[in-house]
Amino acid sequence: MPYVVQKGSQLPLKIFLLGFMGSGKSHWGQIWAAKSHLKFYDLDTTIEHSFKMTIADIFEKEGEEKFRELERYYLRKIEKEKNFVLACGGGTPCFSDNMNWMIAHGTTIYLKASPETLLQQVTDETEKRPVIKNINPSELLFFIQGKLQEREPFYSQAAVTLPVEQLHADSLVELLQEID
Ligand code: S3P
Repeated sequence: MPYVVQKGSQLPLKIFLLGFMGSGKSHWGQIWAAKSHLKFYDLDTTIEHSFKMTIADIFEKEGEEKFRELERYYLRKIEKEKNFVLACGGGTPCFSDNMNWMIAHGTTIYLKASPETLLQQVTDETEKRPVIKNINPSELLFFIQGKLQEREPFYSQAAVTLPVEQLHADSLVELLQEID
């Protein structure tokens, strides 16, 4: 399995899953956490439960800046936890020095997908994703390409990069064994 491991990784205890919307962070995160007996957290869900509003409503009623503040705050609240997989939001690594914070506090794994794959995954779910909600479907691929290019410098700092096309239920188990 192709992956890149950088020095300073602290496997296997604190795993941050990064990647664009639709890359499968929550899907694989739940499966991998269960397989490795780790707790699973989803940063967006944590924010929604704690702030008692959906992400879409937070963006609409409070604005993106407020959402990014909440994202920063609840990300850092996980510091006291151990043995977890956290599925971040697609923008989490790209704001508020969050990427450096995650690198310093655990193992960052980037689920890397092509714009075409991402388009397929998000096409029917734009309503609940405020960043792409108002993009004309005919321009969505172009938008994803641009946003991905903008975010790649953050994602690519991850300790491990996994191509989503090759992911399976044992990807994390295999990765942990390789690194051990
Ligand atoms: C965002 C991605 C979303 C969510 C919010 C902003 C982004 O998470 O955090 O809508 O900026 O890419 P998912 O990647 O889980 O859809």
